[in-house]
Amino acid sequence: MSNGQIIDGAAYAEQLRQRLAQHVSDLTAAHGLVPCLVVVIVGEDPASQIYVKSKGEQTRAIGMESRTIRLPDTTSEAELLHLVDELNRDTAVNGILVQLPLPKHMSSLKVIDAISADKDVDGFHVVNAGRLAVGLEGIVPCTPLGSLMLLKDAVAKNNDTLAGKHAVIVGRSNIVGKPMAQLLLNQDCTVTIAHSKTRNLAEVCREADILVAAVGRPRFVQGDWVKDGAYVIDVGINRIQIDTPEGPKSKVVGDVDFDAAKDHARAITPVPKGVGPMTIACLLNNTLKAFCLQNSLPVPDGV
Ligand code: GUN
Repeated sequence: MSNGQIIDGAAYAEQLRQRLAQHVSDLTAAHGLVPCLVVVIVGEDPASQIYVKSKGEQTRAIGMESRTIRLPDTTSEAELLHLVDELNRDTAVNGILVQLPLPKHMSSLKVIDAISADKDVDGFHVVNAGRLAVGLEGIVPCTPLGSLMLLKDAVAKNNDTLAGKHAVIVGRSNIVGKPMAQLLLNQDCTVTIAHSKTRNLAEVCREADILVAAVGRPRFVQGDWVKDGAYVIDVGINRIQIDTPEGPKSKVVGDVDFDAAKDHARAITPVPKGVGPMTIACLLNNTLKAFCLQNSLPVPDGV
């Protein structure tokens, strides 16, 4: 049994946005330039529409310029690549994000590869992935970056250190699992990446001082997979149907069985209000960083 501190991602993200808003206001006052993020969405995926709306609102709320380009799902890959090329050349645009998933007739790898690495505020381009892998400064994917910020904060609050800890990441996606592994390696953790073919997954997870769940399966990680005193970061956002006396309702849950895991964990992120709010806050962080690098301005501390 452990004390199960709940990591407040919503509060951390709010503080981060406030710091970023101050940097934007200082930079605008000093240089007369406003960072600009362009989000491109293709098709009508309802979850993507909500994320994109929120990205636009939060970008404007910290004083940056936001542009959203909505394309029908009949758009060809060639047309999207042409748009990306135009945005790459537009010096008023500092960050480009193409919302995923894309319609099936497009290759997301090809589209991401077409975005200029300097404007790739998602940090998905091979140049940014490679920079992270070799320990060079670059743009780091938003969800792992936000997860690391929350983890570092929780570890510091416990007068603890990351170095030497065994981190187990469940999930090997390019968007979360792999970059999270690189970030934790750079923090001197011993890192295991587990996935759907890992044998004895429960035992592997029980070895973890830090357990990161990024599998996209509701409550997949069981409470007794969590070692007593472990830090648990739940990246999952899964919508499920639950039965209530008033009838079926939809609810958002993570990849970890939170109620069972929190009694074992030293600290754990809830869902919602854990890692989720950090993703857009880190997107704004990355846009500010891209803006500074493109304009040969110093990147503010902590960005
Ligand atoms: N779809 C869901 N999350 C993300 C993200 O972080 N970036 C992009 N581009 N698409 C997403």
